[in-house]
Amino acid sequence: MKSLITAFVFIGILVSCNSTDKSKNTTQKSSEIETSIDSTSNKVTKQLTESDELLPIMYRLMADMNQINEGIFIENYPMIDSAAYRIATHLKINPAQMQTIKKNLGEDIQEFVRIDMVVHDRAVSISEAAQQKKMSEILSQYDILQQSCVNCHNQFRSRLRGKLQ
Ligand code: HEC
Repeated sequence: MKSLITAFVFIGILVSCNSTDKSKNTTQKSSEIETSIDSTSNKVTKQLTESDELLPIMYRLMADMNQINEGIFIENYPMIDSAAYRIATHLKINPAQMQTIKKNLGEDIQEFVRIDMVVHDRAVSISEAAQQKKMSEILSQYDILQQSCVNCHNQFRSRLRGKLQ
């Protein structure tokens, strides 16, 4: 009987240990996820790159803009080059979402596509300027690139808000 009680107590301890361990794990996991999103670690970066939905593409663009910015300050030309390359070759928005965008923008889809082309072309220019280590050229192209992001947002973001889920 004594040993039975001991066994129960023991199991009780095991069970409670187990449950604290579990909650520890979940907290650890969620904080890991937060950190990796914050630091745009490779794991998250890859995930976002593989998605062809508009919002993940946008967050990827933002992460790469930040990389270019960082590369400018620390004069890391390969960093600027590769981030600009990723912007220039960003995934196409998937056909279903593109359809929704077209439906909502009507004729203005042409302007939407045009601004996206500007983003593409400026990113290519930044990539080339980085390979030639031309800092002032990088800066002026970066400026135009950033204006293009904001230009599209100003014109179309509110018109598409909540329509692309
Ligand atoms: C051709 C149009 C277009 C261009 C160019 C564009 N975006 Fe966007 N972006 C959008 C739209 C539309 C949304 C809103 C999507 C939604 O709310 O579902 C958006 C949303 C975003 C968001 C999410 C903001 C939020 O409130 O959650 C970020 C970040 C972003 N864009 C970054 C960028 C960056 C960086 C660039 C330039 C390198 C860029 N975008 C260029 C159309 C564009």
